Amino acid sequence: MEKKEMFRQELVDVHGVPLFWTIAEAWSQVEGFEARPDDLLITTYPKSGTTWVSEILDLIYNNGDVEKCKRDAIFNRIPLMELIVRESINGIKKLGEMKSPRLVKTHLSVELLPSSLWKNNCKMIYVARNAKDVAVSYYYFYKTAKMHPDPGTWEEFLEKFMTGKVSFGSWYDHVKGWWEKKKDYRILYLFYEDMKEDPKRELLKILKFLEKDLPEEIVNKILYHTSFEIMKDNPTTNYTMVPEDEMDHKISPFMRKGISGDWKNHFTVAQYERFEKHYNQQMEGTTLKFRSEI
Ligand code: A3P
Repeated sequence: MEKKEMFRQELVDVHGVPLFWTIAEAWSQVEGFEARPDDLLITTYPKSGTTWVSEILDLIYNNGDVEKCKRDAIFNRIPLMELIVRESINGIKKLGEMKSPRLVKTHLSVELLPSSLWKNNCKMIYVARNAKDVAVSYYYFYKTAKMHPDPGTWEEFLEKFMTGKVSFGSWYDHVKGWWEKKKDYRILYLFYEDMKEDPKRELLKILKFLEKDLPEEIVNKILYHTSFEIMKDNPTTNYTMVPEDEMDHKISPFMRKGISGDWKNHFTVAQYERFEKHYNQQMEGTTLKFRSEI
């Protein structure tokens, strides 16, 4: 199959969640993922700070060795478990070949997560980001990364986002689902906005969760190397190692703005009002609270 034919296809429903068609067709492989007890799962809804926390974790696992963390692109160092694209990409296979302890990345909702990750009681770090900034970031990512369907206009994309008709499904169900699972599993639930506000505080939370100590000097080194500016210039973290026909950075760089509150530059007053009303209905009854700016 020609690469071009794979792009801009409609998403396919997998147990109620829209996914890339290539993931849907290989779903039995994803379900069969074999977790190991010492796997650490990085779990997020797309565009919530996955790459940021992934780079932090790889640096922690390598005791702040910056050169070692440039051994490969971030998406090869920490594969997206469920990402299968015919013969060219296979997260399950790649992880199967990796030595322990592994860092495993996923965007799956709790319902879709392969059961072996629960059975092995793996530690998991969830990063959540406020819905309006995620919607904006996702809109640009849809435009840039060709495996997604065409996003249409911002207005059209926002509608799809609100109704969960986007890749990996409803943001609302995702953040609430993982928040609930926190009660029964070893999940550290972080917020992008907290990481922006005080990256050191959040990094120390991660270390505590991992039961790992690092000297202050290394902690500061990791903070420096995971700042937006440095990661934007690092070819192994800024996604420029993805072939240009798959991800067109001229449309929008992967490291786009890296701030909280950019939604204000995109939502009209009418969109904001509609969004808030719908948001309050969707989030009613949960103790989960977000900040949309810091
Ligand atoms: P924007 O599009 O709002 O700039 P993910 O890795 O989950 O796909 O998330 C991508 C988003 O995280 C992008 O948001 C990107 O700029 C932002 N991001 C990546 N690294 C970051 C960092 N070190 N600090 C702050 N934001 C970062």
